[in-house]
Order: sequence, then structure tokens, then C-alpha cells
Amino acid sequence: MIRTIYFDVHAGAVIILNQNRLPAQMEYEKMFSHQDLAQAIKLLKVRGAPLIGVTAAFALALAVINYTGSRDMLKEYYREAEQLLASTRPTAVNLCWAIKRMRIVFDAMQYLDIRSLAEELLHEAENMFDEDVAINNIIGEQGQVLLEPDTEVLTICNAGSLATCGYGTALGVIRSAHKVGKINQVWACETRPVLQGARLTVWELMQDKIPVTLITDSMAAHLMSLGRVGAVIVGADRIAASGDTANKIGTYSLAVLAHYHGLPFYVAAPWSTVDMSLLSGSEIPIEERNQEEVRQVGGNYITVPEVKVFNPAFDVTPAALISGIITEKGIIRAPLGEGLRRQG
Ligand code: MRU
Repeated sequence: MIRTIYFDVHAGAVIILNQNRLPAQMEYEKMFSHQDLAQAIKLLKVRGAPLIGVTAAFALALAVINYTGSRDMLKEYYREAEQLLASTRPTAVNLCWAIKRMRIVFDAMQYLDIRSLAEELLHEAENMFDEDVAINNIIGEQGQVLLEPDTEVLTICNAGSLATCGYGTALGVIRSAHKVGKINQVWACETRPVLQGARLTVWELMQDKIPVTLITDSMAAHLMSLGRVGAVIVGADRIAASGDTANKIGTYSLAVLAHYHGLPFYVAAPWSTVDMSLLSGSEIPIEERNQEEVRQVGGNYITVPEVKVFNPAFDVTPAALISGIITEKGIIRAPLGEGLRRQG
């Protein structure tokens, strides 16, 4: 299993796998403060909704481990750390979910000595890590049932081990289906502009010897017209109460294409990605990232450097285009809003 994050007691640091270096280098980096971790989330060194959440949890534990101030100021210091982390990436709701979960421990344990409080917070972050792996295994098992034998599956971005604490959500389903011999082929969309598909999904699947073929994002329609796609499976960054789902930019186009070609389109995500406080997808905040991500590839300009760019990192797929949402609580089918309410 690829280890995406852990705490190293001897170093007094959180260790992360720097995903910006993949696939060329598998490089672990030491993060000595919660500010370092906040920056790592912003720069996509760690990414993927579930992993962003768990990283924030480790960051909050590290904040208290490093705290040297007075007892009186601890609450304020902790609140500032929460705010810094919450501001890193707006779309993945797992980030706020993890911060809220850590806050419950902080509030319950705040009267302990600071060292014991830090230990409790670290323990909670590690629990969240373990739970995420267990949840992904359940999602994988439940999801694989939906696939026919000998299926060619198409996915976008990276919703695998690298986006989680291990196994993955969409790639978890693919892994479980592969184990029972159902996967003939995975088509990985390269996922412009940051290329999570080309850099991460391809690498991850090849490590596991799951047959994968890389395509550019614009090739999906042609592939479907050739009858080479049996199902589309993607991850999610936030699912509104209606079932509308935010995921990596380009997901919505795939859902429209799947609908046109009569193919099932599945979303795989832990329940921590569901945000029942938002009625519909139009309320989901969509992160806009640096324009240079689109102007450059591998540090080289591929366009006129001064050109204006629009760079939303996510889009929202309407519930009506989603055949089912695979969570650890079960598979939710249309009408998704009703199903989500029942499960919640
Ligand atoms: O910008 P990223 O790389 O964090 O985007 C990640 C995705 O869109 C994933 O599909 C989503 O977070 C689900 S990861 C299990």
C-alpha cells in the first residue's frame, strides 16, 4: 500500500508523499508545522478530498504538539490553526468535516495538560486515517458488484490510494473489481490542467498491474462511440443533499457523454463527502486556481504568456446524470436526494 501520510515521532514531523513529484520521483517530505501542511495542501503536494481532510487532522495535532504559549492563549491559537487550514481549498467538504471532528476532541480534552491533549489529537488523526482505509475497502467491495465481467471502465483525475489514506474510492471499486476478474481495461483521462490522471492514476494502477490506457480528456466521446467504455466511475469532492456532485473539472462532460451513450455513471465517495447542509450543487464553492496551471505544462509555456485564463478546479455534475453513489453506507440510486436523506 502506498503510504500517503504519517506521523514520525522521532522527527517530530508529519511525513507526506509529495504528489507533485510523481511519477518521476517518490519523495517523502517532512512537515514540521501546521503552516507547512496548510501550504502543502494549497500546492497539491497532498490532494484528493479524503486525504485533504486527514492532512488537516494531522496538522491540528501538530499545531498542539508544537504549542509553547500560555494555557490562556491555546484556544485562540487552535482556532487560528483551524481557520488557516479551512482556507486552503474550498471545494472538498472533507476538510471542514475533519476540522469539526478534531474540534470535538479538542473541546472534550482541552483541560488535560497540553502534551496529553496533543496525544489525544494525534490519536484521533490516526484513527481517521485507519477508518478511511476501512471505508474505502467497503466502498470497493460494494461498488464492484455494479460492474459486469470484462468491463472497460473510464475514470478522471485520481480518486485512488494517493487521494485517500489507501485503496481509494473510484480506484477502490476498480481494484476490487479487478480482484474478481471484472476489469478488462481502465481508461484514464489525463485530467488537464494538473494531470492527476496522467501522473497519478496511471502510475498507481501500473504499480498494481491493473491494465490502464491513458487518453487525453477530449478522447472520451470517441472511445464511447466505439463501444469501448462499459461504465464511468469517478470520485467526489462534495455531494449536495440533492445528489449534485462536485468533482474534478471535466467530470460533468463525462457524465453528459455517458448519458448520451446510455452508459452507467457512478460516483464513489465516503459519507464525509456528503454535505446535507447544501440543497443543490449551485451552492458548492468552486475553487479557482492559478492561471499559470493552464498556461504552462511542465514549467513551459504552451500559449501566449499574457493570455487571460479561466481555471476552475472542479465542476458540478447534476444528480440526474448520476446512476448511483457508492458510499460505505450502501449504494444510493435515483432519486439521489431521497436516497441520501434516507441514508443520512
Ligand atoms: O484537485 P484535486 O487533485 O484534489 O482533485 C481531486 C478530485 O477531484 C478527486 O476526484 C476527489 O477529491 C475524490 S478523491 C477520492
